[in-house]
Amino acid sequence: MSFALTDMKKNTITIMSLFFLYLLACSRALSTKIGVNFGRLGNNLPSASKSIELLQTMKAGRVKLYDADHEILRLLSATKLEVTIMVTNEEITGIAGSQDISDRWVYEHILNHYPDTMIRTVLVGNEVLSYTTTDQDRQIMQDLVPAMVRIRASLKTVGINNIKIGTPLAMDIMESTFPPSSGRFKPEIVDEIVPLLDFINGTNSFFFIDIYPYFSWAEDPLCISLDYALLEGGPMYTDPGTGLTYTNLLDQMLDSVFFAMAKYGYSDVMIAIAETGWPHDGDLTQHGANRENAAVYNRNVIRKMTAVPPKGTPARPGVIIPTYIFSLYDENEKLGPESERHWGLLNPDGSPVYKVDLSGKAYKT
Ligand SMILES: *[C@@H]1O[C@H](CO)[C@@H](O)[C@H](O)[C@H]1NC(C)=O
Repeated sequence: MSFALTDMKKNTITIMSLFFLYLLACSRALSTKIGVNFGRLGNNLPSASKSIELLQTMKAGRVKLYDADHEILRLLSATKLEVTIMVTNEEITGIAGSQDISDRWVYEHILNHYPDTMIRTVLVGNEVLSYTTTDQDRQIMQDLVPAMVRIRASLKTVGINNIKIGTPLAMDIMESTFPPSSGRFKPEIVDEIVPLLDFINGTNSFFFIDIYPYFSWAEDPLCISLDYALLEGGPMYTDPGTGLTYTNLLDQMLDSVFFAMAKYGYSDVMIAIAETGWPHDGDLTQHGANRENAAVYNRNVIRKMTAVPPKGTPARPGVIIPTYIFSLYDENEKLGPESERHWGLLNPDGSPVYKVDLSGKAYKT
């Protein structure tokens, strides 16, 4: 009798632990899904509904918008795509200054669509700490964290607790990235970055970074091997500060951010990649910008970020790094060198520039 009881207890415990393992596996499966940036700076792009159809065909797990467009959010309600929306830089100061404005933003852009549309992240502003020239830029910088706090309060008021709040920053926030252990933020943004880290840490959110090994390699193609930038191997690098060995440039850059955060005590803050990618075409002088490199880079990133168990980085092995590829389309209205208009996974007519499997299944070894 007592034996049977113990056995039953054991079974219950086994079932319960299996259940928790299952939950863990599911949440992991969810978070390793690859996202795609849905930039729309083109005058020749397919309709919103066609675009969403394409995202599903490509097996994207998440989509990131640069705004909170109503039509797109409405159409996304018919999908299982996890959605990241953005507060534009111009909206930040208004939201920071008034809970009412924040509540209205959340009502209009989130409550109108949630939960049918699986909005999971609100990113406040885009690369806000990279713009420091005008008074308005500096005002937006100062208003960034207060606006994030307001949006959080608005969400709390309406009882939503499964939407993360973050802000994507660019690598130019870094004073030093090499060796990775020397990673340091620029002194002029420390006043903003520390409260930001505090907010992210306190809300269990992510530090979103736009990270492009392509640009680092293109600046220094003689010193950095192309294979290393493409996650194809190449010479390994050992950081003398930590003894950690690196096999690719992306890990090096990610860990430089990790070490910069750790210098302020925030070594548990999770990193997410809000943008990464490789241009598939460019000016004659932009040698690395070609279709083959773009395909290799994106496939390798997808393979790395969908690996189970997660790969992480040398400084943080095993962690999940949610990743959004830039970008869905070639965008012909982007300014700058020719490569800027060729980051797309798809041509403007919706045909693939090269084959990628965003589910990562094709790259399992
Ligand atoms: C980050 O958050 C954790 C958990 O809430 C807390 O224990 C820790 O002190 C925080 N870190 C910093 C540097 O504030």
